[in-house]
Amino acid sequence: MFQSIPTTLALLTASALSFAWPPPSWSPHPHGPPPTWQQHGNHHHHDDELAYPRQRGPDYDYTSFTQDQQSRADAIIAQFRFAWSGYYTHAYPHDDLLPKNNSFSDSRNGWGLLMFDALDTAIIMEQKDIVDIILDFIPTVDFSRNNAEPVQEDGVENAVSTSLFETTIRYLGGMLGAYDLLKGPFGHLGVEEGKVDALLSQAGSLADAVKSAFDTPTGIPVNLQHLSDLTGNPEYGDLAQKAESYWFNGDEIWPGLTGGNFSVQTGEIQDQYGGWTSGNDSAYEYLIKMYVYDPERYQNYSERWQAAADSTIAHLIGHPSSRPDLTMAGAFDGNMVENYTEQLACFIGGNFILGATVLDRSDYMDYGLAFSEFCANGYRYAASGIGPIEYSWNTTLLASNFTNQTSLYENAGWFIPDNTAYHNGQAPEAVESWYYAYQVTGDQYWRDVAWAYTLAQNRTERVGSGFSSVNDVLVESGNGTQNFMASYMLAEVLKYEYLIQKPFGGMYDVEFGKGNENSFVYNTEAHPFRVRAKEPV
Ligand SMILES: *[C@@H]1O[C@H](CO)[C@@H](O)[C@H](O)[C@H]1NC(C)=O
Ligand SMILES: *[C@@H]1O[C@H](CO)[C@@H](O)[C@H](O)[C@H]1NC(C)=O
Ligand SMILES: *[C@@H]1O[C@H](CO)[C@@H](O)[C@H](O)[C@H]1NC(C)=O
Ligand SMILES: *[C@@H]1O[C@H](CO)[C@@H](O)[C@H](O)[C@H]1NC(C)=O
Ligand SMILES: *[C@@H]1O[C@H](CO)[C@@H](O)[C@H](O)[C@H]1NC(C)=O
Ligand SMILES: *[C@@H]1O[C@H](CO)[C@@H](O)[C@H](O)[C@H]1NC(C)=O
Ligand SMILES: *[C@@H]1O[C@H](CO)[C@@H](O)[C@H](O)[C@H]1NC(C)=O
Ligand SMILES: *[C@@H]1O[C@H](CO)[C@@H](O)[C@H](O)[C@H]1NC(C)=O
Ligand SMILES: *[C@@H]1O[C@H](CO)[C@@H](O)[C@H](O)[C@H]1NC(C)=O
Ligand SMILES: *[C@@H]1O[C@H](CO)[C@@H](O)[C@H](O)[C@H]1NC(C)=O
Repeated sequence: MFQSIPTTLALLTASALSFAWPPPSWSPHPHGPPPTWQQHGNHHHHDDELAYPRQRGPDYDYTSFTQDQQSRADAIIAQFRFAWSGYYTHAYPHDDLLPKNNSFSDSRNGWGLLMFDALDTAIIMEQKDIVDIILDFIPTVDFSRNNAEPVQEDGVENAVSTSLFETTIRYLGGMLGAYDLLKGPFGHLGVEEGKVDALLSQAGSLADAVKSAFDTPTGIPVNLQHLSDLTGNPEYGDLAQKAESYWFNGDEIWPGLTGGNFSVQTGEIQDQYGGWTSGNDSAYEYLIKMYVYDPERYQNYSERWQAAADSTIAHLIGHPSSRPDLTMAGAFDGNMVENYTEQLACFIGGNFILGATVLDRSDYMDYGLAFSEFCANGYRYAASGIGPIEYSWNTTLLASNFTNQTSLYENAGWFIPDNTAYHNGQAPEAVESWYYAYQVTGDQYWRDVAWAYTLAQNRTERVGSGFSSVNDVLVESGNGTQNFMASYMLAEVLKYEYLIQKPFGGMYDVEFGKGNENSFVYNTEAHPFRVRAKEPV
């Protein structure tokens, strides 16, 4: 019942900021398109065999990667179709595929979670046959019934109630994102209008069926606000704002930064642990996304986000002693900063980049790119090519408990501070940040970083009829896999991997074009919503 965040970190003085990662300072609103890799590639001064200068560095070599972006995009579509086909053959219409033994589970009420999560990815990839199957299915769901077998968790019956809010926002986000795309930039797919409108009416039915679950202080209000804006019913957005106000009023450790372990029931903040991974969904992440969604209504969210970002820069920045070139924000316990972060925090790069462009802050851009690089380095130094779940650069802890990772730390700048947390594999946060980094810099390097992850996943995680996380990211083969394909592998990972590689842009991209336009805002589950500030779709 309590959402809590793990703790860890180290306080750095402002002087350490001079180590900030070396990209040339970014300037807001360039008077032209961002430099593209082709432009760089025309200057073969020193190294004629490289297609572009950053294709090889001291610790990586991307020269073997195909430069044909269409073939990269097609390969990702092929992976998406493989995952879909495994699900459709063996798990439809349940929530999840267990790919090793062609079985299924119902982790989210048994309403067909994977289909709702995969729908807008199928739209963006223009896989019309898959879109049609899902659109035919969605109107058949009765959200007033829980189709899942109640499961026992820690002796407590889990059924629907404990995570109803988290469940609901996934289904809602999937329907609203698909609706906006089909009414807007993917109208040319020619989907029957009645089927598109059914998405909105089913979203309303779901919201009405589980309304009581919204009355909590957690979650991502953008889903609910958007439902209100599309249906004209203010009730959902009001619930979201009420919930948010609990968190706004919590005790601050530093301006804008509060503890993250709060009671879902009362909204009370239980302690002073915090960081950019608080709870299930980072509250900080959607403060700036709400502002992008509707800058007039959510001006004070942007002020709160800036306070959090400024306090992060002032108090939380760390550089591993073995790799002072790397920069990351740590977590905090009261005003003690810990040399620790998590895979879940890897979205911070993209979030700072988004804040930089909408608020015209070049310092946020420099940090956003540096944070994105911290996670790129994490994937690079895990032998499997899959980054770890937890990162520590605490040398006291290394020396006392984790000496068998000393050589990893010397090279990588991180070690895994938990011998039971070597698994990982379907995480979207890092590739989300690389996508924002590519969009604002046009630097092919970020595409290559993402492509390395795509290849690593295809090599180590393809098992049976789908994908599953590996057991050990520090072993090249992954040392075997688990038996669960997460719906967010299709909703988030494959979506961001595709968006960064596709050879053309669209108004559904983040940071689109010369002006870095955000006509869509991607929520925490990577469902794109048309922003309120622009012309209605
Ligand atoms: C969060 O607060 C609750 C209630 O005080 C406590 O039981 C729980 O252990 C805390 N979680 C963490 C990670 O500290
Ligand atoms: C934001 O500002 C509005 C209008 O000034 C106010 O009603 C609302 O309570 C504020 N929200 C928060 C979370 O502070
Ligand atoms: C939220 O966090 C709790 C506690 O860590 C976890 O049990 C639950 O599965 C998480 N929910 C989601 C949607 O990730
Ligand atoms: C390092 O780890 C030790 C042992 O867990 C902890 O007491 C200390 O606070 C940590 N320090 C930092 C800076 O993370
Ligand atoms: C934490 O990291 C900082 C550099 O960011 C370093 O100066 C400090 O010694 C580290 N502390 C520990 C316990 O590793
Ligand atoms: C590290 O080792 C100490 C002493 O053996 C132990 O008390 C502590 O729980 C360990 N910490 C971790 C994170 O494993
Ligand atoms: C380090 O030792 C622990 C405990 O024996 C083990 O679980 C872990 O796999 C080892 N890690 C490495 C990188 O060898
Ligand atoms: C992914 O794996 C499949 C099966 O091994 C293979 O046919 C395909 O070429 C791989 N894709 C890429 C991009 O390597
Ligand atoms: C792989 O996992 C098995 C246990 O399933 C273990 O015995 C073996 O040592 C691991 N291999 C490597 C290279 O870590
Ligand atoms: C498939 O494997 C899972 C464990 O990963 C197990 O719980 C389930 O019962 C298996 N299903 C079938 C049909 O064998």
